[in-house]
Amino acid sequence: MVSFLSKGLFITIFFAVATTINAQKLHVAVYYESLCGDSIRFITNQLNPAYEDLKNHIEILFVPFGKSWRNGGERFMCQHGPDECAGNMIQSCTLNAINAPGNGDPDASMKYVACQMAPGAEASGQQCAASVGIDYSFVSQCVSGGLGQQLQYGAEKATHEIAYPYPRFVPTIVYNRRFDQKLQNRSLYDFVGVVCELIRNEAPVCSGR
Ligand SMILES: *[C@@H]1O[C@H](CO)[C@@H](O)[C@H](O)[C@H]1NC(C)=O
Repeated sequence: MVSFLSKGLFITIFFAVATTINAQKLHVAVYYESLCGDSIRFITNQLNPAYEDLKNHIEILFVPFGKSWRNGGERFMCQHGPDECAGNMIQSCTLNAINAPGNGDPDASMKYVACQMAPGAEASGQQCAASVGIDYSFVSQCVSGGLGQQLQYGAEKATHEIAYPYPRFVPTIVYNRRFDQKLQNRSLYDFVGVVCELIRNEAPVCSGR
């Protein structure tokens, strides 16, 4: 009976601690755009390679919008032309499908973005959606049916909250919802170092740095 009780207590405490750690995850928002060389480089060379070591300590928000803009109307314009706008919407749609309630893989967003932002990735997004188990018909339906446009309005709003009318540099990386130019600059070549500093070296990868 005593051991049963203490086990219950242990489990309760364990969950309390786990919840606290989860609540304290560092929020990392990545504002990027689909055909941007600097975004491709940051995601491919900094963020994705660090993900496995840091994933228990960070929570990533991907915002595929960058320096897109509208001239008053509904249509978006993009720094690298219409293909970039199309790519941003495809990523919004696929991320939305990935984040739908009940989708079990917590790493799917990172896997998908790493796939889609790899140099030379297939533009329709079909292969990368398939690689994380997303049925492409949801994506094409989202793009053609108006949801994609709504999701891009959301990405626009999120981007304008940190930079209006657009970020000075893409990608922009924001920690715990506050832009910091020094952290931004350093993130482009030392993402792990920045995160380690912000999480007070709590991840094993941080020791000895
Ligand atoms: C960040 O980088 C930009 C461009 O390289 C530079 O002009 C600026 O001075 C840097 N800012 C800080 C705070 O390091």
